[in-house]
Amino acid sequence: MVEEVLDLHRTPLEHIPVMSEEVLESLAPKPGDRVLDCTVGGGGHSALLLERIGPQGFLWGIERDPRTLDRARARLEQVGHPFELVHANFAALETLETHWQISDLDAVLLDLGTSIFQLKEAERGFSLSQDGPLDMRMNPAEDTPSAADLVNTWSEAELKHLFQTLGEERFSGRIAHALVKARQKQPFERTAQLAECIAEAVPRREKIHPATRVFQALRIAVNDELEAIETVLPVAMRLLKPGGRLAVISFHSLEDRRVKQAFRYWSQDCLCPPRQPVCTCQHQPLLQRSGKALRPGEAEIRANSPSRSARLRVAQRCKDV
Ligand SMILES: C[S@@+](CC[C@H](N)C(=O)[O-])C[C@H]1O[C@@H](n2cnc3c(N)ncnc32)[C@H](O)[C@@H]1O
Repeated sequence: MVEEVLDLHRTPLEHIPVMSEEVLESLAPKPGDRVLDCTVGGGGHSALLLERIGPQGFLWGIERDPRTLDRARARLEQVGHPFELVHANFAALETLETHWQISDLDAVLLDLGTSIFQLKEAERGFSLSQDGPLDMRMNPAEDTPSAADLVNTWSEAELKHLFQTLGEERFSGRIAHALVKARQKQPFERTAQLAECIAEAVPRREKIHPATRVFQALRIAVNDELEAIETVLPVAMRLLKPGGRLAVISFHSLEDRRVKQAFRYWSQDCLCPPRQPVCTCQHQPLLQRSGKALRPGEAEIRANSPSRSARLRVAQRCKDV
């Protein structure tokens, strides 16, 4: 599964919260609840949650991208119920837990990936269909390598491995070879330059742009996205009160796999070796999973094409641990 290439002509201007009905149904926010949105983005889901928890509830929100945060704050202020937003990486949730003194949450939401605002701003370097600097950092103020730094300095073997693992790209070897050859003449600085070089290096057989998977791999690597998910999930789960719910929307299989594995691990009721005939560990499951991942319905996909690859997984903190 790969994230859809955004068709900028068909995509709405505002970020429409994905699977919002399913999120509200799964998290079941009620007046007075204390909720945490780890990926505030445009504030769409946060606003819906805030409306339901009302003036007695409280919403804490985290967003890594400083540019989207102001927009979200304005949106939430219109709702008029108490909230606090912070510009941070959700991987730092343990630090924020101490800062905010939060515990016993009723609901935690993670809606992973990028927002429409990031994809639409060519200068952020996320977009395949608009030329911009090859950046892709969700927080451009962070002193971390950009996509251009990776493409221009990593060895051919490292690039091939990156495209293979994080992009699941079939032509990773060919692409890495072409990039290393091309950068000797001129280093990569622009998204269009990279997209063109990749398009020339591989046969075009699919509907999606041939550079889609490489762009995905670079974005995940530049922002350490998978490590951030692995770091935040155990903290998010620990912050839930018994009966509290955790919902995660992911947009590609690498994210979804991590969520699925984490939920499966915490919902095990026995940690004894598989061949041991009788359980002696007396392990108690921490979470109760709610079946298979949910997918958006046809009508939502028609109205909001970026929702197409979304998967929502939900789990509930067990009551008796
Ligand atoms: C799909 S959007 C969320 C949209 C939001 N739910 C809404 O309805 O408007 C994902 C957001 O998560 C943010 N994000 C991604 N990784 C993050 C991280 N590690 N820490 C904090 N925010 C992150 C992105 O910057 C982006 O704004």
